[in-house]
Amino acid sequence: MIIAIDGPAASGKGTLGKRLAAYYGFRHLDSGLLYRAVAKAVLDAGKPIDDRAAAIAAAKLLDPAHLDENALKSDDIGKAASVVAPIPEVRAALVTFQRTFAASKPGAVIDGRDIGTVIAPNAEVKIFVTATPQERARRRVLELKGRGDPVDPAAVLADIVKRDERDTNRAEAPLKAASDAHLLDTTHLDIDAAVRAAIDIVEATRAGRGRG
Ligand code: DC
Repeated sequence: MIIAIDGPAASGKGTLGKRLAAYYGFRHLDSGLLYRAVAKAVLDAGKPIDDRAAAIAAAKLLDPAHLDENALKSDDIGKAASVVAPIPEVRAALVTFQRTFAASKPGAVIDGRDIGTVIAPNAEVKIFVTATPQERARRRVLELKGRGDPVDPAAVLADIVKRDERDTNRAEAPLKAASDAHLLDTTHLDIDAAVRAAIDIVEATRAGRGRG
């Protein structure tokens, strides 16, 4: 079974994906890490982040099986990732790994922006997670404070709005809900409630399939 979770930056889809995978005993892939790793490789090579050739080369050389999540989770790398992610050749270089991962037995949970639309359009369950930009900024501020990082709440909100804009308006695989995705608005849900709601969606889908 494939569970595809898409949604904007800081919507909680990563935590949701991890928890759903643990619940069902499935493998979990945070596909944003792939784009973050490409961005980090460009910066580590001393190239400007808008160097397309460097980004394409980095994507082709990436070893997706060995990603250092801790080194990739900063806001700066997230911002850089949204600059390399629109490049079609970068996305193309990362497709096979994601599709192979999606076919993992007994199942896979993948979260990102285009999982239900491009990577796994035949996923049995698609969930599109949303929350208002203000709520997502509030969560991100708490997370940064928890890590002891300096935080400017207004700048965090501005960044989220800018990344939404970039992810939604790009030509290639933009952030959008698949027509058969279940919408899950977590603005007023804590993570436990969001996980329960997601499990309800998976179970309802399974029950529906069983009857069909
Ligand atoms: O989910 P995240 O914040 O780790 O993603 C970082 C960037 O990577 C995001 O701005 C857009 C890009 N991304 C993408 O284009 N497609 C995906 N499936 C996942 C992430």
